[in-house]
Amino acid sequence: MALYARITGWGMSVPEKVLTNDDLSKMVDTNDEWIRSRTGIQERRIASSEETTASLATEAALQALEVAQLNPDELDLIVVSTSSPEHIFPATACLVQDRLGAMHAGAFDLLAACTGFIFALNLATQAIRTGSIKSALVIGAETFSRLVDWKDRDTCILFGDGAGAFVLQASQEPSGVLSAVMRSDGSGGDLLSVPAGGSRMPASLASVSNGQHYIHMNGREVFRFASRVMVQATHEAVAAAKLTLADIQLIIPHQANQRIIESAARGLGVPLERCMINLDRYGNTGTASIPIAVCEAVQQGRLKPDEKIVLVGFGGGLTWGAAVVEWSGLIPAKAKIRPTQVRLFAQMRSFLRRLLRRLEGWIWGR
Ligand code: ACO
Repeated sequence: MALYARITGWGMSVPEKVLTNDDLSKMVDTNDEWIRSRTGIQERRIASSEETTASLATEAALQALEVAQLNPDELDLIVVSTSSPEHIFPATACLVQDRLGAMHAGAFDLLAACTGFIFALNLATQAIRTGSIKSALVIGAETFSRLVDWKDRDTCILFGDGAGAFVLQASQEPSGVLSAVMRSDGSGGDLLSVPAGGSRMPASLASVSNGQHYIHMNGREVFRFASRVMVQATHEAVAAAKLTLADIQLIIPHQANQRIIESAARGLGVPLERCMINLDRYGNTGTASIPIAVCEAVQQGRLKPDEKIVLVGFGGGLTWGAAVVEWSGLIPAKAKIRPTQVRLFAQMRSFLRRLLRRLEGWIWGR
């Protein structure tokens, strides 16, 4: 019997601190009118010094687990898609695994820039569909505010911080990802990159003073590329699901620029009202933008059980992709999993594991 990966939980987390266009106009030579008319962005959320990619990811995950009524212990896999990981290693996903107390989950990061959530969702879906695992947590999380040059008006106006998460569980009812398209073109890698900090250009006085640890972008070229591939990937994914655009209730695109979304809607011949847009309030939150937009579509009643949607994105790499998803949207009547309890329990377990490791070291060291 065919297995499907049903989306049984979803959650999002954004920092409280809001940075408006007017605030930005006091930091660089820009203004609200320019930013709104060129991008559609009005404000974005910025992480406080205590918030990190893992903390936002964990909060989104706890919400998703609460909706799914799944105990972290029951998770088999955690994938964190991010381009702003906490470290080169360990993976941000392992930090999340520890904070959730997900004792039986393998955890790793996936890097495909803003397309990453679609790639991660598809890979976790395929792992469930083969029967190799039963449940997965897929998270998109970014703290781009830490990678942005706050003196560069070309880039600092675009990005924001946040996280979104889905819980997937094996099911015999057809739902979840029905088809997916994953594409890359490494020849355009230089159009959107953080040049330093990896093994090719390790941190040095020169790399820091040249600003090579910040996001570098050729905005016009990325704009052209994005407008083209959003249309192409959507058509391919819809055809692969043996559907037509008329079967799709909502398109949830990567939230980079209102004009890119308008251009894609025109190219697809669908009214803009059939595209979810919330970039005015969050800016570009990278790989988190699609799951955050899905959560808000559910909150706003724009996404209902059994409806079919397209998730479509693009990003550095270059990468792009789309997925046709049948939304399950079953909200359990009575919540038993409580995020505060899960958090506390995970902290205690993590503390005990560290203590045990120290004791082992002490015993073996004697
Ligand atoms: N405020 C005021 N003026 C500005 C600003 C600013 N913040 N930024 C640039 N300008 C100026 C430029 O200097 C230029 O001036 P000039 O004509 O005197 O040279 C003028 O505005 C026009 O600049 P363009 O770069 O041509 O502006 P454009 O209309 O292309 O908009 C933008 C720029 C918003 C960056 C657009 O190209 C874009 O959105 N590109 C896609 C970017 C994107 O999506 N990146 C994320 C990808 S996802 C990921 O993987 C992270």
